[in-house]
Amino acid sequence: MDSVERPTWAPVDIDLSRPSIARVYDYWLGGAHNFAVDRAVGDKVQADVPVLKTIILNHRSFLRRAVRYLLSRGIRQFLDLGSGIPTVGNVHEIAQAADPSARVVYVDVDPVAVAHSRAILTGNELVGVLQTDVRDARGVLKSPEVRHLLDFDQPVAVLMVALLHFVPDSDDPRGIIEAYHDAIPAGSFLAMSHAGYEEGEWDPAWDDAKGVYNRGVSELTYRSKREIERLFTGFDLVEPGVERLPLWHPESPDDLDENSSSFLGFGAVGRKG
Ligand SMILES: C[S@@+](CC[C@H](N)C(=O)[O-])C[C@H]1O[C@@H](n2cnc3c(N)ncnc32)[C@H](O)[C@@H]1O
Repeated sequence: MDSVERPTWAPVDIDLSRPSIARVYDYWLGGAHNFAVDRAVGDKVQADVPVLKTIILNHRSFLRRAVRYLLSRGIRQFLDLGSGIPTVGNVHEIAQAADPSARVVYVDVDPVAVAHSRAILTGNELVGVLQTDVRDARGVLKSPEVRHLLDFDQPVAVLMVALLHFVPDSDDPRGIIEAYHDAIPAGSFLAMSHAGYEEGEWDPAWDDAKGVYNRGVSELTYRSKREIERLFTGFDLVEPGVERLPLWHPESPDDLDENSSSFLGFGAVGRKG
């Protein structure tokens, strides 16, 4: 793609010929910040797993419900890791609607996600955006954005929504969570959604979808419900624990989905005691 075709929102240094996790996700969510290369992979994966778009929308819906739940538990500071390309119902919109003094730091490695976040957040002094790899927890935690906006003497909610299935076991996801866990005070929370399955249930189509995604975009790691539970070591899971996305604190009958029993995705919130 040459500079004539490059949209104004696309930072000049990104490779427009390679799909990105954030832009493919944006496509599935119905957003406008993606390219033909992202849509091609997105369509291929969806052909293997037709329920995919519904699953993606359920991750997003879990994010909104989890933020509202955390607000109800008194949380006013959010560290949103792998925050993605902003779309309807961003964390700061929900949090600041409940309390205008709520603070949010968005962190993503993707340049489009970060550029678009910065554009829509101009003038909002209580929200920061950081472009970095969340696996570098020390780097995130000592960044000026985090230090300036988040008070680690007060509870903080760390959000990892549809993120950790992009972190393979070889990168020690548990160790990454531990680094954030150790930095936040008692009374803080971790909210996570994750691509996963119940032990004993497996659909070969999920392998096909994973193959397309791995070849085209990024390595994807599905985890079992038990493995996801283990990621919460050090946190007390709030009811109902690690649960299928639509069944985690549904707020209306619309949140429930008839396909939920075959969903490749779980959500959970845990509290640091
Ligand atoms: C599937 S999207 C989810 C976005 C958002 N959390 C949501 O629920 O709508 C995953 C995001 O994580 C980001 N991501 C993946 N690995 C990352 C890493 N190691 N460091 C920072 N961001 C990462 C991607 O760029 C992408 O924007």
